[in-house]
Amino acid sequence: MANELEKQNAAAAAMEFVEDGMTIGLGTGSTAKYFVQMLAEEIADGLVVRCIETSEQTRRLAESLGVPLIPSEQIERIHLTVDGADEVDEHGFLIKGGGAALLREKIIANASDHMVVIADPSKQVERLGKFPLPVEVTPFGYTITAKKVYDALCSSGIDRPRVELRAQPGGRLVMTDGGNYILDCHCQRIPDAESLAARLSNVPGVVEHGLFIGIARTVIIGNEAGATVFEF
Ligand code: A5P
Repeated sequence: MANELEKQNAAAAAMEFVEDGMTIGLGTGSTAKYFVQMLAEEIADGLVVRCIETSEQTRRLAESLGVPLIPSEQIERIHLTVDGADEVDEHGFLIKGGGAALLREKIIANASDHMVVIADPSKQVERLGKFPLPVEVTPFGYTITAKKVYDALCSSGIDRPRVELRAQPGGRLVMTDGGNYILDCHCQRIPDAESLAARLSNVPGVVEHGLFIGIARTVIIGNEAGATVFEF
């Protein structure tokens, strides 16, 4: 089980990559939250940066802490993005979207000069897939899309996958910041993440999927004493 100190130490290590004048992408989730808080403290002490959020949740957090945000349409360059992950493998490939923010997270991370992932050791896996892979789909035709997603999983060598529409505990469907649904794909083991990513991207109705392939350049795994930094 993750402890908060591991997350905090990962976030603190990511602060080493922050420089005055940067435009910074702010991730979503409980680990990214520590980074935003630490950044806010540095800003209060005189650090000058501009930021772009990856979710409404992070926007509210940043605004409450006085972290300056710029609208996405005014972005010319993003120097650094710091975000969490649901799983990270030995290639730095990720599963993201446990917090339903994968679309904005991928747009921002992919557009960044440098994506830094911060995580606790529970996120490190030999092979991706234990964490259900989130796939964001349009509400229109979502049952049709879900069948095609299922076919894509089978064609990628996943044995008896299960595709589940994400709902809240009361049964209300989860809606993303972009007004879409999330399909959680229970795979157990993804034999070839690159081929699955390509297949999912080809399904009409799939807005984005939570496989981040070749996007993260740095992965920081926090521990109780500090953090280990991996470069890709
Ligand atoms: C949000 O959609 C996800 O991609 C998060 O980055 C991920 O769930 C990590 O969250 P924690 O840091 O809370 O584990």
